[in-house]
Amino acid sequence: MSGFDPDWLALRAPADDAARDAGLLAQAAAWVRPGETILDLGAGTGATLGALGPLAPRARWRLADNDAALLALAAARGAAIGALVETVVVDLAAAPEAVFTPAPRLVTASAFFDLLSGAAIVRLAEAAARAGAAVYAALTYDGVERWEPPHPEDAAVRAAFLADMRRDKGFGAALGADAAPALASALAEQGYRVATAPSPWRLEAPRDAALIAALAVGQAEATGAGAGWLAARRAARRVVVGHVDVFATPG
Ligand SMILES: C[S@@+](CC[C@H](N)C(=O)[O-])C[C@H]1O[C@@H](n2cnc3c(N)ncnc32)[C@H](O)[C@@H]1O
Repeated sequence: MSGFDPDWLALRAPADDAARDAGLLAQAAAWVRPGETILDLGAGTGATLGALGPLAPRARWRLADNDAALLALAAARGAAIGALVETVVVDLAAAPEAVFTPAPRLVTASAFFDLLSGAAIVRLAEAAARAGAAVYAALTYDGVERWEPPHPEDAAVRAAFLADMRRDKGFGAALGADAAPALASALAEQGYRVATAPSPWRLEAPRDAALIAALAVGQAEATGAGAGWLAARRAARRVVVGHVDVFATPG
């Protein structure tokens, strides 16, 4: 178990799907021809497979994660949509290079790179470059948050949350909100042409009330925010949570 709750991944999935930059998603899909391999890092329950799979028919998917239970759900998702799926249980913090053989055409990830240290990001960018693979990394948290209506404790809670995002998640001190620019420059360093686009969640109550409440609870637990802040945040009308998508092609 990695500690990533499948219910949390399912709750965030509609917001993630709506947030992905459609242009970069289409470019990533167009990069892959039938029969070629897509390697998904930190695949979880297969969110990237769900978003990209229908646009890249007959691709072969290699889903890599250290959580066998999440990968079993991803494999079931793949079977349901008729995708060719192989799962690999692997600690990407310890030995990421092995999953790059045989070389994939495209390396993907979503909601993953903000867990990584700068060194781990460079290591994966180098492995992708050695494989000659393009990279599509979606939904990396960028630190932008706007909650409506505002609350007097917002700035303090946000600072504490940004610090929490930098905790070691197994890869060394995480880059959190600085991960997307670090990934873009690590790929550029390897000779990639890099495109980025914002992919914010735009949440509104009552449609997204369950996700808004879960976000509020998660942030309160991570930061020790008070009961007043939590109550106000659970009742927020609108929330914007910033992310960045990256698509990079080898030079
Ligand atoms: C926030 S979840 C994202 C899952 C999925 N990509 C999505 O968008 O729903 C992060 C994923 O990274 C995986 N992960 C975290 N640390 C890992 C490690 N050291 N090796 C492999 N996978 C890891 C978790 O198990 C989890 O599935």
